[in-house]
Amino acid sequence: MMRTIKTTCCLLVLCLLVGCAGSQGSAYEKDLLVVGFSQLGSESDWRIANTQSMTQAFSEENGYELLFDNAKQKQENQLIAVRNFILQGVDIIVLAPDAETGWDNVLSEAKAAGIPVIIVDREVSVEDESLYLSSVGSDFLKEGRLAVDWLEKELARQGRNDEEIKILHIKGTDGATAQLMRTKAIEDGVLRQSLWTISAQLSGDFTEAKGYEVVRDYLKNDQDIDVIYSENDNMTFGAMRALDEAGLSYGENGDVIIISFDAVREALEYCLEGKINLCVECNPLHGPRVDELIRQYESGAEIPKQTYVEETYFTRSNLSLEIICNREY
Ligand code: AHR
Repeated sequence: MMRTIKTTCCLLVLCLLVGCAGSQGSAYEKDLLVVGFSQLGSESDWRIANTQSMTQAFSEENGYELLFDNAKQKQENQLIAVRNFILQGVDIIVLAPDAETGWDNVLSEAKAAGIPVIIVDREVSVEDESLYLSSVGSDFLKEGRLAVDWLEKELARQGRNDEEIKILHIKGTDGATAQLMRTKAIEDGVLRQSLWTISAQLSGDFTEAKGYEVVRDYLKNDQDIDVIYSENDNMTFGAMRALDEAGLSYGENGDVIIISFDAVREALEYCLEGKINLCVECNPLHGPRVDELIRQYESGAEIPKQTYVEETYFTRSNLSLEIICNREY
């Protein structure tokens, strides 16, 4: 199954069309597997680490030729990229989807072209699950629940069980699995805890600039905040800047409890300093995982439909400089 007949034909036709000008270097000649990877953007430190992990895994030394497309956080760009990969007759498409919905047509086209698709990081919601081969990423609901459970325990530890708790919720990109599930977790928590309220849900699009902007504007009208639940580290960095400018204290010795997702190096450093109370890990190192799935598929082995990676969380009490330095991102 190393190379589909269709792909071989496409490559041969391409070779004839270009007069085999690049024949010494073609993926076909080198027996490389051609992977089209549609990355959704470069909005966060997490995403940069993810792109790095993917591009390292799909190197020529590993037997791949990588066609990479950065969709700049626009699903329409991803649809174009996937269609281009189909036209180019790649062997496998890897898709890191911006939002969950809107993929049925393009994935049907990939299936009709006989090109398997692996979904990475976030998930897709499609009518027919046979439109993709496998999906590997984080269990975002579990991450959110971890954060909410931690908050319940932390407030109990602080003796604040009978206090009203006002939560400012900064959401990631609307419709992304990471947003939908982390949001579900905090909304479920608020339903369970009668004294918790979500004061506002602001859209920060997983970027530092947006996180800063929405929190800065919010603080002009309301500064009565007990908790910031921020769906990624970069939005948290923006929120921290806005809090600094407004003169509000936060973290372990401050007035606002900060909960953040991803646990990238900079966030862990803030956590160790006591400026972020909780960093829930979201692991971006999917390159080797997707590589392994492809190898299993190529060898004819059965591969899992859904794989979730193991993740943990960090507070000042379980962090050290050594842990931070030994992490890859
Ligand atoms: O889908 C993973 C999320 O997307 C990460 O939490 C975030 O940083 C990224 O942009």
